[in-house]
Amino acid sequence: MKTMIDHGLVVTMDGVTVYEDGCVLTDGKAISYVGPKPESVDYDRYIDARGGIVMPGLINTHTHSPMTLLRGVGNDHALNEWLNDYIFPLEDKLDEKAVYYGTLLACAEMIKSGTTAFADMYFFSESAAKAVLAAGMKANISRCVTGTHNDYKNRLAEARALFRDYNGAGDGLIKIEHSAHSVYSCSKDAIRKVAEAAQLDGTGIHIHLSETMKENRDCYSRYGKSPTEVMLDCGVFDVRANAAHCVYLSENDMDILKSHDASVAHNPTSNLKLASGVANVKEMLEKDINVSLGTDGSASNNALDMFAEMKLAGLLHKGMRLDPKLIPAETALYMATAGGAKTLGRQNETGMLKAGYCADVIILDADAPALVPVNDPLSTLVYGGCGGHVITSMINGQIVMENRELKTLDMADIKRGVIAARSRIGL
Ligand code: NI
Repeated sequence: MKTMIDHGLVVTMDGVTVYEDGCVLTDGKAISYVGPKPESVDYDRYIDARGGIVMPGLINTHTHSPMTLLRGVGNDHALNEWLNDYIFPLEDKLDEKAVYYGTLLACAEMIKSGTTAFADMYFFSESAAKAVLAAGMKANISRCVTGTHNDYKNRLAEARALFRDYNGAGDGLIKIEHSAHSVYSCSKDAIRKVAEAAQLDGTGIHIHLSETMKENRDCYSRYGKSPTEVMLDCGVFDVRANAAHCVYLSENDMDILKSHDASVAHNPTSNLKLASGVANVKEMLEKDINVSLGTDGSASNNALDMFAEMKLAGLLHKGMRLDPKLIPAETALYMATAGGAKTLGRQNETGMLKAGYCADVIILDADAPALVPVNDPLSTLVYGGCGGHVITSMINGQIVMENRELKTLDMADIKRGVIAARSRIGL
C-alpha cells in the first residue's frame, strides 16, 4: 500500500527542515519520500493534510502502561508513601487480564495524543505485549525485576522468556528489554544479573535512577556511593541504558552516563506531582547527554500526553534557571522525537520523517484555533499544541487513528475490560 500525505506543513525533525506545503509518501511500512510534492506520484491512498502540521509520532520513553487502572489513586503524596501505601498493595491484586486492558487503555490514550512508540516497564508483560500488538503501536517492553534476596530470580526468568517469545514481534513493533527497577528495590546481585541478561540477549536496560533525594541518601548510607555509581558497578551501563528521572545526579554521575552513551528519560510532570524535584537538564544537555521525555505511569501524572511533557520541559527549566533560552522549542521537540528514538535504540528507524525510516507519522488538525496562524511551526507545536490536536496517526505504515477515530482499538470494549479489572482489584 502506497500512501500520499499531501499539503502538510511538514516538520521532519531531520535537522530543522520544514516544508511549508510538503508531501510525505509511504510504501508499506516505510517512508519513501519527504519534500515538496513531486510532479507525478503513484499511490493507493490519498490523505489531504489541508495545511495541518505533519510530523514524526512522539516517543514516550518512560511509562508503566497498565497503571492507567490506578489513575487518580494516592494523589498528593511523596514517592515513598505513594508507592508503599497506595500503589504496591493494589498492584499485588492485578492479574493478566487487568494488565491487558490497562495497556490497551494506555495505547488508546497515547494514540489519541500523538504517541507512536513508548518504553514500558511493568509485569504480566506478555499481556502488555499482546495489547501493544493489538493496538499496532511500537514499544520497548521490559518485565520489571525487583527483589532484594533470591526473590528476583523468578522475575528475571520471566523477563528472559518474554525476550525469547516477543522480541521483534509484529514485524519489529515490539522490542524486549530488561529492567532492574531501582537501587532501592533491587539487591546489587539482582541488578548485576539483569545487566548480564541484557548483555546475553543483546538488548537494552531500563531503570529508575536517582528519582528522589531519599533514594540518593539511602544509597549513600548503604553503599557509600551514588545510585549511578552502584548501577555502574553492576554493569548496567555496559548495555544501552534508559535511565528514568535522574533528578539528583552529581557531576560524576553525569560523566558516567555520557561516557557510556546512556540516555535519560526526563519525566517533569511525575517529578513535580510526587514532589521529587527538578532534574538538572541544563547540565545534562551541556554534557551532550541524550535527554528524552517520559510521562511515567498514569498514577503519577495522571495523563499520557507527550505534548504536555514537551511544554512543561520547555517551560520548567526556563523558569527554574531564569533563562528564557534554555530548552528552546526545537530542543523540546527533539527530546520527544529523535532523542526518544535514540533512547529506545530505534534511531535508525523512527523519530524523523525521512526516506527509509518507518512510517510513524502524525497529522495535527489544520483547523485547531490554537494552531492558527503558524508563524513558527516548532513553537506552535511545543507551546500551543496538545494531544487533542492530533487527528490522524500512522505507525509502520498502518493507520491507527483517522480523523480522531481509533482504527485498531475498540474503546467500548476497553472500558468494559477496565471497569471489570477495577472491581477485581477493589477500587
Ligand atoms: Ni517510573
